[in-house]
Amino acid sequence: MKEQIDQIRTEAAGFDITSADKLEQYRLRFLSKKGLVSELFEAFRSVSGEEKKLYGKELNFLKQEVEGRWQAQKEALESTAVTENSGIDLSRPPQPRELGSRHPLSLVRQEIIRFFEGLGFNISEGHEIVDDWHNFGALNFDNDHPARDMQDTFFVQTHPDILLRTHTSTVQVKEMQLGNLPIRTISPGRVYRNETVSARSHMQFHQVEGLYIDENVSFADLKQTLYLFATEFFGRDLKVRFRASYFPFTEPSAEMDVSCFICNQEGCSVCKHTGWVEILGCGMVDPNVLENCGIDSKKYTGYAFGMGIERMTMLKYQMRDIRLFYENDLRFLKQFKSEI
Ligand code: DAH
Repeated sequence: MKEQIDQIRTEAAGFDITSADKLEQYRLRFLSKKGLVSELFEAFRSVSGEEKKLYGKELNFLKQEVEGRWQAQKEALESTAVTENSGIDLSRPPQPRELGSRHPLSLVRQEIIRFFEGLGFNISEGHEIVDDWHNFGALNFDNDHPARDMQDTFFVQTHPDILLRTHTSTVQVKEMQLGNLPIRTISPGRVYRNETVSARSHMQFHQVEGLYIDENVSFADLKQTLYLFATEFFGRDLKVRFRASYFPFTEPSAEMDVSCFICNQEGCSVCKHTGWVEILGCGMVDPNVLENCGIDSKKYTGYAFGMGIERMTMLKYQMRDIRLFYENDLRFLKQFKSEI
């Protein structure tokens, strides 16, 4: 018995099973009903009790070994067959996946927010659909004041009192009404104006509004904060100037220019040969506005500022056409990779 077991073991181990045909021959020779292993089991039934004790275990081992080899090779052959037949090489390393990139407006919005968060401003967002009072009235735009024409407005047809906000200054009103003083908040958001779409203007764009209200807030605070912001944002030693201007909700009002970083004030088309680029509007919150929103203008003062995110982005990346932001052309969008 022992000899037979060893013989079969040696033969099975040396049997060539490298193809499906040969594997089948192996099965027939050793594992089928009339195969060598089965025959040995048959013979085992008639050996003496002594021999049964001696070789029973070994015979079982033999069967397991021979079957195990068959099973493993069967699986191996099947998996190569799948690969070969489908034409897919499962062992090939994967193509690296291309990551998406953030929209340039998101990047710049985030950058502005981060700067002001660093100074202790929180973020507030209002609604895009507001009433006339929140967009204009509370901000000191008289009913027949020509300043309303500065911003062409989309009204809701059925409710002429309701409109798409024309600026994020409307968020100031909400924040002041909440009355958690002092207020130091920054409000990014989308705004709408009834303007013809062109390279320079769009009927929807984004602004960031800033508002700081406390006791003894001065114009000097405003200037220093915005100066820091501009040099940080454009990343160089810029000159800054404040030009007197007019907004109904601030008094005094100013516009802030930075020295043209494209031509170093030599004169170029971006600065229209003036050497200066306007980046935002600002001023001290008009006492009327404070009172309209329930804040004691004798005790509190504050500053506000507002800037266009598209404009800041176009200046930063030297873009000439605002429409690029909304066309979703991948050749454009892919140029803005970031680590954020
Ligand atoms: N809301 C103004 C606009 O849309 C921008 C602005 C100017 C905001 C002066 C302010 C400010 O907060 O103080 O043109």
